[in-house]
Amino acid sequence: MPDQLPVIAPSILAADYTRLKQQIDACTDGGASWLHCDVMDGHFVPNISFGPMIVEAAARCAPDALIDVHLMIENPGNYIEQFVRAGASLISFHIETEPHAHRVIQAIRATGIQAGIAINPATPLSLLEDVLPEVDLVVVMTVNPGFGGQKFIEPALGKIRRLAEMRDRLDTDFLIQVDGGVGPDNIGRIADAGADILVAGSSVFSAHDITDRVKELARLARTGELKFT
Ligand code: DX5
Ligand code: ZN
Repeated sequence: MPDQLPVIAPSILAADYTRLKQQIDACTDGGASWLHCDVMDGHFVPNISFGPMIVEAAARCAPDALIDVHLMIENPGNYIEQFVRAGASLISFHIETEPHAHRVIQAIRATGIQAGIAINPATPLSLLEDVLPEVDLVVVMTVNPGFGGQKFIEPALGKIRRLAEMRDRLDTDFLIQVDGGVGPDNIGRIADAGADILVAGSSVFSAHDITDRVKELARLARTGELKFT
């Protein structure tokens, strides 16, 4: 469990790969304790991003960070060992990609790391009901997966609230991660809706000062302050 919620998880998909170590250092200097690694295969999502090698590089850049691997790939169960060896602390996969989600969650946890389940904007929360007691994290996609820099899907705020209510009703303790389109102008409302882990890619790495932006996002998330950019 992170020391203080909500937590900012910079998504390195948006990083400048000619300066990855410098940019990750800027994030951790700003207090980021999670790093979000978006793995895309060009099949489940249109884009191809990166694999275990980049996850390992990120883990070596920030040995104290929680390495949060978000698999947007088909057959996620085939790749667990590779990402665990690369340094993943947590692996999330999409419920839409895996008919045997319970088995894959068990396989992730059997390696000793944490397991998360992700859902697309159009996927109903009811599809997750029977695995919620088994996961450490639920990733609510607030953009259509595959690319950074998209606009936050506003109706997802209600979905976040409903998921938090489901967690209370089921008396489980998974963390709620919100992923996509998070920035200074909406992070207060998203945290207020119940988000524990806030993924931010372009709003972090497009900033003139990455360290200051991570600190600002954490402050806005904790105060619920509205900021109009
Ligand atoms: C989208 C990824 C997100 C994305 C976030 O498919 O899952 O993690 O990188 O980037 P921004 O914050 O720019 O939407
Ligand atoms: Zn992601």
